[in-house]
Amino acid sequence: MKNSTLTCLLFSVLCLISITSCKQPDKNFVDQNIEFADTQMRNLLSAVGDSEKLPRSVLPSGELDMVDIEDWTSGFFPGVLWYMYELTNDDYWKQAAETQSQKLLPLQYFTDHHDVGFMMYCSYGNGYRLTQNEDYKGILINSAKSLSTRFRKNAGIIQSWDFSRSWGGEAWRCPVIIDNMMNLELLFFASKVTNDDTFRNIAISHADRTLENHIREDYSSYHVVNYDTISGQATGLGTRQGFADNSTWARGQGWSIYGFTMTYRETRNPKYLEAAQRIADFYIQHPNLPEDKIPYWDFNVNEPGYTPLFGYDMNKYKIIPRDVSAATIAISGMLELSYILGEKGKKYYDFAEEALQSLSSHYLYKGNHSFILDQSVGNFPGDSEITVPLIYADYYFLEALLRYKQLSVK
Ligand code: GLY
Repeated sequence: MKNSTLTCLLFSVLCLISITSCKQPDKNFVDQNIEFADTQMRNLLSAVGDSEKLPRSVLPSGELDMVDIEDWTSGFFPGVLWYMYELTNDDYWKQAAETQSQKLLPLQYFTDHHDVGFMMYCSYGNGYRLTQNEDYKGILINSAKSLSTRFRKNAGIIQSWDFSRSWGGEAWRCPVIIDNMMNLELLFFASKVTNDDTFRNIAISHADRTLENHIREDYSSYHVVNYDTISGQATGLGTRQGFADNSTWARGQGWSIYGFTMTYRETRNPKYLEAAQRIADFYIQHPNLPEDKIPYWDFNVNEPGYTPLFGYDMNKYKIIPRDVSAATIAISGMLELSYILGEKGKKYYDFAEEALQSLSSHYLYKGNHSFILDQSVGNFPGDSEITVPLIYADYYFLEALLRYKQLSVK
């Protein structure tokens, strides 16, 4: 039996055994959300039509934002369609997922930024998991090789972006963002299917350096760490999408919860599990987390001791925007964490359940296009995508629904 099938089977069986202590959710809750997603995604698919591009968000002009395949978000729409297939078992979605994944074929050789992991694993990774299509396996192995070209040996990390920081301060010649933890899943996969540990060793090295430098003593996270690729030293700590260099960007904290939980799943090294728990604790216990469990786009907006890098005017906003995408990533990560921890992980399960209920009650998309969730923030300091739907919020929401269903619904 293939590794991924075995993992999947094991996950399902263990879910049934180990989470019996969790309360049983209302089955209708999951079904109603799937029904809404079904309508929305059918409409989005027909809006995409024959375009070579993929949907990402809604532009300020009100038009649907369609992006080229090189955009970091291009894998999420195919991924959404694969999850729709998994949630409904309807071949309509399988066909759609295959067609939309096909668009990304050239990206298996893409080396311009680290996001090749997101792009290919969310699309072809899910496709392979669900179909065992051997072509997809080959594409994923090539993608892992492309991602590995960005590994900087002396620093022991995968370089995220090529560009330097251009708005003052020291230059960033080898910036690594916390998001990069998510790309490691592609490398773990590639090692399993090739029996070549090179990919896995890169992933472990990257996770170790991230734990050392991105994660602070209180288990909050930096968005960006810059490395000197010769000495290997971390030479800069900062942000590009958060409120301030020393603040905690909510989506970054979500990437960390998810990323370290996944790294524990793949390595069984307890230090990653401990990190994931503490990072999740920071998130769920934070005094600035609103009662409905959907975070502001940064945990430290307007707080003393945090200086907004760009000096932007927060007074423009009567209320601090939430970031639903951060919530979906954190929820999905916490559901896996709760599964791993069994009874000890109940607080993460309970939190995820409450946050899912909030999303489904108050954050569904009601605009002129067809997304599932609204009110995410793409890049606040860049004045871009503030309180809009984002395709990756929909992706992690569906993934979270699936995990919730597997963990809980009998
Ligand atoms: N990976 C880019 C972002 O989270 O905005």
